[in-house]
Amino acid sequence: MQSTDFAQRRERLFDKMENGIAVIGSNIFMQRSNDTDFPFRQNSNFRYLTGINEPDCVLILSKKADEQKVFLFIRPNNELEEMWMGKRMGLEKSKDLIGADKTFPISDFNKEMEDLLPGHKNLYVHFHERADLFTNLQKICGDLFNKKRKNTAQPPQAILNVGQLIEELRYVKDQNEILTMKKAMVATNNAHRAAMALTAPGRSEKEINALIEYIFTKGDGQGNAYDNIVAGGNNANILHYIENNQALNDGELLLIDAGCQLNNYATDITRTFPINGKFTGAQKAVYEIVLDSQKAAISHSWPDRNAPDMHKTTCKVLTQGLIDLKVLSGSLDENLEKGTCRKYFPHGTGHWLGLDVHDQNPYLDSNDEPMKFEPGVIFTVEPGLYFPKEDATLPEELRGIGIRIEDNILITETGHENLSAMIPKEVKEIEEACEKDYRDFLD
Ligand code: GLY
Ligand code: MN
Ligand code: MN
Repeated sequence: MQSTDFAQRRERLFDKMENGIAVIGSNIFMQRSNDTDFPFRQNSNFRYLTGINEPDCVLILSKKADEQKVFLFIRPNNELEEMWMGKRMGLEKSKDLIGADKTFPISDFNKEMEDLLPGHKNLYVHFHERADLFTNLQKICGDLFNKKRKNTAQPPQAILNVGQLIEELRYVKDQNEILTMKKAMVATNNAHRAAMALTAPGRSEKEINALIEYIFTKGDGQGNAYDNIVAGGNNANILHYIENNQALNDGELLLIDAGCQLNNYATDITRTFPINGKFTGAQKAVYEIVLDSQKAAISHSWPDRNAPDMHKTTCKVLTQGLIDLKVLSGSLDENLEKGTCRKYFPHGTGHWLGLDVHDQNPYLDSNDEPMKFEPGVIFTVEPGLYFPKEDATLPEELRGIGIRIEDNILITETGHENLSAMIPKEVKEIEEACEKDYRDFLD
């Protein structure tokens, strides 16, 4: 990405703003325990608008009737701290990189904001990120307000959600973003294929998880885009199972939900396959129903269509499947009316995907209507069926089966492109992939 690309994004944000000042924080280091921090991961909105990957920064966009300015607060260069903690961009380099009107040391934030805030009608902040920054700004504005009789310019009188404006910008992905996600998918494909090949009775969720992490980190990838889910047997029925530490048993399935992150962009892929390499009859019957529902949902992926209608399509196929499996009784219409499949399919069909695995894009438009799919929009399609072992109301052969199949779909001018189409998904493809040698996917 060129710095002009980030400048264009800021320009589009300016266009959405009225007279006001937007304050967008980077992430900060989060303490793990004494003297150790969690790995740093940049705030997605800050990254989207600057490309900068450092903690302790704040981007300021100032829009007044007659001028627009960009300011950046950032850590200054410091030889001693950089010797301990790594290089910093510093004030000059970051100013040139993003074309800011001025950069300031982050330690001067409160002092400088007393000068920058007055004269703007609105203060744009993110309503659910960096609560510390929000509180700090409230205090600075309050203090300025108390002093206002002595000043001519007023501090902002209204607070608006900058998050909502950036969400709208991030909805349609540009060619760079799409290319990045396609590159990340190469490692995701290798990891899922290697996992299918290595998995066998006697192996553990932990070993498979380690292999996936290795593949996600050894090349350009930055590791996983979210906590991997490596769930053998009944663990697949815990939707966000992340312990990944149990033995893998003969005759059971392994559900893996794992996606590589590249340049902070996520992939989000789930495959479910037999631990011993061959589906049982009952496993195959459930798998085919989930697969049919996923294909029906993907075939709904066209410009001008929307996610709630896609979800209805998924539920229809799954509900008919549940009737065929004798899990549900009664007619299809009765069951659809009552939403009975929700017990076995308790989540949505998908979500937006991009810099965040659950990308911050709007689900409703300004009329509260579902957002329409348009070229450049990327989302997941991830139906599942979950039959907990403990549920004695289920036919016995289904208990302990949990299956989800998840692909990442790009809407194009003429329909869609499945970005994860290369990852085995048909029963035959999966059984063949389970026969391979995992070392074939390590290069
Ligand atoms: N991996 C999280 C999700 O599928 O939404
Ligand atoms: Mn997902
Ligand atoms: Mn997922």
